Order: sequence, then structure tokens, then C-alpha cells
Amino acid sequence: MPKILVLNGPNLNLLGTREPEIYGHTTLQDINDRIGKRAAEAGIAVDFLQSNHEGVLVDAVQAANHKYDYIIFNAAAFTHYSIALRDAIAAIEVPVIEVHLSNIHQREEFRHTSVLAPVAMGQICGLGAESYMAALEAIICKLKG
Ligand code: DQA
Repeated sequence: MPKILVLNGPNLNLLGTREPEIYGHTTLQDINDRIGKRAAEAGIAVDFLQSNHEGVLVDAVQAANHKYDYIIFNAAAFTHYSIALRDAIAAIEVPVIEVHLSNIHQREEFRHTSVLAPVAMGQICGLGAESYMAALEAIICKLKG
């Protein structure tokens, strides 16, 4: 059975109440439930991890190597400056799809840069929770070959 890892970075545990005008009212649990349901339908096993700590996310990316087929990763603010996470993604063979709820290219200039994008398989942003679902659909297609 194919396996994917859904990783979420800092402050995404607060989704639902955090800046709802930007991120909406959907909680991380709601998003994970939707992913889990669609993945189960498609016969894919899925693990979830959210952390506010860069080192925990680096450890999770490293540990994912040879264990998962794909990673869906919203690194949140770390997207914009974590060379440690970029290097971890570059060091593993598992393809990473970078996702964001908001359209980072429409927001403050410091959010326009993703240091992860050059080492990610692709980036999906601006679709709210559907950014994660679109990443999952892409994975389902790719797994079918
Ligand atoms: C985010 C965008 C980031 O700029 C921000 O720091 C986040 C969430 C998003 O999903 O839109 O925490 O990754």
C-alpha cells in the first residue's frame, strides 16, 4: 500500500481561529479528516504531523526517506527562510509537494520567496484546504502511473 506523509509547520495547529480572513474557518483536523477520507478511498495510507519546531520537522523529513512515497508539506513561515528544511528535502529521495492555504505570491513581499520550492516537486497555493486536496489528487494520478 502506498504511504504518504502530511507535514504541517508552525501555527497551523491554530487554523480555524487564526486570521480567519486569510486562512478561513477550517481547522487542521478538518483538513486532515478530508485527506484521510480521500486517501482511504484511493487505497493510500497516510500519516500526519504538525510541529511548531523546525528541528522536529527536519527530523520528520529525514525519517520519511524510504518510508513514504510522497510528502505533502505546508512548512508555513519556515517556507520563507528555513535552509535547514530545504537541505533536508534535498537530502531525501521522497518527492515533496509544497502547499499553502493562501496565495503567498499575492501577500507581503517576504512571503513571495519559498526557499523550499527549488527542491520541491511542485508548489500549490491559494486554494485554501483544496491546496492539500489538489496535491493528494496529483499523488493519486502519479501513483497510478
Ligand atoms: C502559509 C503561508 C505562510 O506565509 C504563513 O507563514 C503560514 C501559512 C499558508 O498556508 O498560506 O503560516 O504557509
